[in-house]
Amino acid sequence: MNTSTHPALLGSLKQSKTAGKLINFSPGPTSLPEAVEERIADSFKRPGLTSLALSHRSPEFIDIIDRTKASVRRVMGIPDQYEVLFTHGGGHGQFAAVPLNLCHKTSDVATYVVNGTWTERARDEALRYCAVQTIDGRDSMGGYTTFPELKEKDIDTNSRFFFLCSNETVNGIENHRLPKLPESRRHIPLVIDASSDFTTKPIDWQDDGVGVLFACASKNIGHPGVTLTVVRKDLLGNEKFSPLCPGVFNYTTNAEADNLWNTPATFNIEVIGFLMEWLEREGGVAANERRSIAKSSILYDVIDNSGGFYRTPVQDKSLRSRMNVPFNVNGGDENLTSEFLIQSWNEGMVGLRTLTPFGVGSYLRASLYNCITVEDAAYLADFMKRFAGKYQMK
Ligand SMILES: Cc1ncc(COP(=O)(O)O)c(C=O)c1O
Repeated sequence: MNTSTHPALLGSLKQSKTAGKLINFSPGPTSLPEAVEERIADSFKRPGLTSLALSHRSPEFIDIIDRTKASVRRVMGIPDQYEVLFTHGGGHGQFAAVPLNLCHKTSDVATYVVNGTWTERARDEALRYCAVQTIDGRDSMGGYTTFPELKEKDIDTNSRFFFLCSNETVNGIENHRLPKLPESRRHIPLVIDASSDFTTKPIDWQDDGVGVLFACASKNIGHPGVTLTVVRKDLLGNEKFSPLCPGVFNYTTNAEADNLWNTPATFNIEVIGFLMEWLEREGGVAANERRSIAKSSILYDVIDNSGGFYRTPVQDKSLRSRMNVPFNVNGGDENLTSEFLIQSWNEGMVGLRTLTPFGVGSYLRASLYNCITVEDAAYLADFMKRFAGKYQMK
């Protein structure tokens, strides 16, 4: 086969004939834990209608949405002072919804930490709806490899909200705990894009000052088509949102209608419930965090002990993502990178290089969401060691 047309180099996620288990390291959408996928399959074998066909106003669906909400609250310890919304439009929908809900006028100020591709996108979207103050998180070389120090002088005291992404999926930068604003700015509600790390660490909602947190489902908690958005109730109210905020994005409207203002993503909501019940059975968020640390450490150890054969861009270990581990092969050598992709694909590992709106870059990326087990991460680590043993110094 002409190697340039090998499925692994085209980003194919299909199973190689030579591999046993398919391990999906995609950055999202991605797989769900095996037990959750089985539960979904079982739901299609039940007598009666599946949630794909249930009216969202039927008692059967109301039961599903109530149970899903309750399990999200239990797993993530969400206090009564917050609404749990199942919103439309993915992460990008929330990039618009956040300023439209929290800024009444376009002159209202909002502060954004921009330290990666997704916060750049979020900030650029917000520029249409409010007066944005940017905290530039680039390092001295102009790259995104860090999280900036938060200084009082850089945060307008009148900011309606303070936006950050707790895991920059493409750049591999994670806040393992939410950062604290300087004392004099703690009145400003935090808005967290937790699309790629939700459920993998605890959140101290009130103490951390969270106003809004959203997570598109398709990485850790479900399928594309629904986004979980948690909103502190004091941020709701008719006098708060922009008059231009569309109803479908409006937190107040959707909270008042109990998530039934329009047709919610019925099936996707049920899947979030399945995932949350799985998490509860597997020891909740604390155990999930331990698994995330174990999975990512296995890979970072191989990278750090490879004598430079593999490199990862984030040097500050306290900021290295446990969700998305970027690494290059022999300084980004394209021939060896292609060889790495083909051989790992042949051994059943897919999704290590997918196309993004930001291109592919020279880094591969192993995404370690809830579908990936510690054994799966160890399987990749073992492959990386064998590959380095074969090609290093050649
Ligand atoms: C951190 C983060 N925010 C937002 C998005 C965009 O989400 P969506 O594609 O659902 O709009 C992504 C997608 O990869 C992401 O990783």
